[in-house]
Amino acid sequence: MRVLGIETSCDDTGVAIYDDQLGLLAHALYSQIETHKEYGGVVPELAARDHIRKVIPLVDTVLKQAGCDVGSIETVAYTKGPGLAGALLAGSAVAKGLAFAWGVPAVGIHHMEGHMLAPMLEEDAPEFPFVALLVSGGHTLLAEVRGIGEYTILGQTLDDAVGEAFDKTAKILGLGYPGGPAVAKAALNGEAGRFRFPRPMLDRPGMDFSYSGLKTFALTTVQKTHAEAGELNDQAIADIALAFQDAAVEALVVKCKRALDATNAERLVVAGGVGANLHLREQLKIMTEKVRAELYFPRIEFCTDNGAMIAYAGAKRAHQQDDGLDFQVKPRWSLEDLPPV
Ligand code: KG4
Ligand code: ZN
Repeated sequence: MRVLGIETSCDDTGVAIYDDQLGLLAHALYSQIETHKEYGGVVPELAARDHIRKVIPLVDTVLKQAGCDVGSIETVAYTKGPGLAGALLAGSAVAKGLAFAWGVPAVGIHHMEGHMLAPMLEEDAPEFPFVALLVSGGHTLLAEVRGIGEYTILGQTLDDAVGEAFDKTAKILGLGYPGGPAVAKAALNGEAGRFRFPRPMLDRPGMDFSYSGLKTFALTTVQKTHAEAGELNDQAIADIALAFQDAAVEALVVKCKRALDATNAERLVVAGGVGANLHLREQLKIMTEKVRAELYFPRIEFCTDNGAMIAYAGAKRAHQQDDGLDFQVKPRWSLEDLPPV
């Protein structure tokens, strides 16, 4: 089964070709960072227009990279949701057009399932069952994964996603967009102990998260520091970034440990953009070594949005799914509503 995968749920246009016999044959990404930078966040209408401009050239690129003929593509997989409605529509319209022209099925993929299966593209792919931590700009959730499409949500954010908290804190600190990598970079020069952020939800049992309080705490810390020192210098920015990151990561690590305990799982899979955070990676490594669980991440470039994860998920679902030619997308869509494979 050879699948062309198209990802357009937010601000990255990702296209890839995956072959279930030969593995990943090609992948290409166009990041819209430059388009959205001046607005300090993703502008949905601009995102949709950029996807329309970029998808077809990227399809050409991956076909050339893979050295394969369009006739060898057996399925077109695309991100059906969740995500920005206009962006999803742009990708699905192109996917359906190509599927119609090539006479092959179009298979709509759940974006978070794509993220969760991204570690399967690596050589040391995890076996089922495992606990998955999905951390992105739109999601923060823990799921028990027994197989593809067999998901039980153990906990999720009650308000902001952790990536969103990174992005908003970056904005408050004047670090620009995208915020996650900028906060992580600033934190490298931070002095530990100068500020301490609260640990959201840690005093309560369960595996839910809450991140809107951290963002507010970042804002009041900035205002206080400003009032006391008269300016927010680079050291203060770095110290606040470090304190924020420590609190955000600790909440994730503690809840992951609870999820491993509750399910008796021996494997933890981490995916989504915030999975690229090195402090999170280090802290999860320490925790999983203590409880003797195995830890899996996709390679850094497949933590954030990409076409490879969509092509992979498409290859797994193609034998039982054909979304036809209508343009239905699902901006909101629970992982628990997916059928098992
Ligand atoms: O999965 P993703 O690429 O897109 C969504 O589906 O949302 O995740 C993007 C999110 C953004 O909030 C971004 O700031 C965050 O992942 N992110 C990071 C890092 N790299 C990306 N957050 C913390 N540290 C990073 N190194
Ligand atoms: Zn994503």
